[in-house]
Amino acid sequence: MENPFRYGGIVLGPYFADRQNEMDELKKEIGNISRVFLVSPRRFGKTCLLFNLMESLKLENIPVAYLDLNAHPDIKSLSGNYALQTCKALETNREKLIKVLSGLKNFKPQFSVESDGTKISAELIPTIQEKDALAALLEGMQYAERLAYQTRKKLVVIIDEFSELAKYNGDTLEKALRSEIQKHQNIAYIFSGSEQSDMLAMLRDRKRAFYKLGRIMELGPIDRTCYKNFILKWLKKGKITVSTSSLHRVFELGYDVPYNIQRMCNIMWELAQKDNQVTSAIIEKLPAIIAKQDSPHYELSWRTASTLQRKILIALSKEPDLKPLSKEFALRYQISPPSSIKASLVSLIKKGILYQTLKGNYRFTDCFMPYWIDSMI
Ligand SMILES: Nc1ncnc2c1ncn2[C@@H]1O[C@H](COP(=O)(O)OP(=O)(O)OP(=O)(O)O)[C@@H](O)[C@H]1O
Ligand SMILES: [Mg+2]
Repeated sequence: MENPFRYGGIVLGPYFADRQNEMDELKKEIGNISRVFLVSPRRFGKTCLLFNLMESLKLENIPVAYLDLNAHPDIKSLSGNYALQTCKALETNREKLIKVLSGLKNFKPQFSVESDGTKISAELIPTIQEKDALAALLEGMQYAERLAYQTRKKLVVIIDEFSELAKYNGDTLEKALRSEIQKHQNIAYIFSGSEQSDMLAMLRDRKRAFYKLGRIMELGPIDRTCYKNFILKWLKKGKITVSTSSLHRVFELGYDVPYNIQRMCNIMWELAQKDNQVTSAIIEKLPAIIAKQDSPHYELSWRTASTLQRKILIALSKEPDLKPLSKEFALRYQISPPSSIKASLVSLIKKGILYQTLKGNYRFTDCFMPYWIDSMI
């Protein structure tokens, strides 16, 4: 039997754990044509949740367009894909779609026959310069709203990695998008982004365009009981036994981050093949195994860290709850002055090695890195 605990990419269907409440809540918001900002720390499963939501919406014949801002280096490329995806979602009839796409002013549609000879794929090439790309993006958005109205459909537009919007040179774009989105009555929007990104700043700052444009939905960890049942179901299918109480440790060791849990369960599954059982000893070994697997990645981060930064990382790997700017921290680890510690923390966050929680603690972005540090010192 194939390892059912998948990680790294999009996890769908039977391999996707729980999130039923979140899915129901998003569907309710969609029904009300709301705007939702889905926020969580990295690797909590926003993209997976959105893909599973899309599968479910498709079954209900609700049109949905998905855009990942990471995939678009500039507004011009975003505008082409925005218009294309929204039109494709709303118009599934091939001939009608060709007509719809031809009705756009700032784009030239291009069609090509796919290699199997049966399907036609379309592309929209913006005919404007990059400096005028915002006009094209707005045209696509207005076009989608009109088309949704004309076809009497409610469209769902999902924009993943939304905080990347800032990279398209900001203010004017954000304001224009806000005022456009506010006019839409036939499109529900879901904007998704991580807590570590600029997303929350975008939403909480009164001076920014997206302030109070919609509801912030914070995606928490997966409910432990549901996740435990998901894991037990698969272990049972694989004829692997485990004591239910020891599974709790998986959640503790992985800080309830779905990516971490999946990663650990994936290895747990492999190790359990020998005796068809998961023991506590196996579970305790998992983080160190992952740390070893990922060591080339950690070595690279380590090489770019200064001596002071390394000292801070070592200290945090031993005592994650200690505040690096406290006197206790400086005394215990002989690190000072606070201004240098502060600068190092800023740099470690910038490099993506640490992140600051909403409560102000500094945590490793990758919870397995402390195990690697521990194995090294
Ligand atoms: N409900 C789930 N069931 C099973 N695995 C999950 C689930 N949610 C997340 N995962 C695991 O976590 C990994 C990361 O999920 P995903 O990419 O959706 O997170 P994300 O919040 O979008 O992260 P980022 O902020 O980095 O974009 C997935 O590849 C998958 O292994
Ligand atoms: Mg994601």
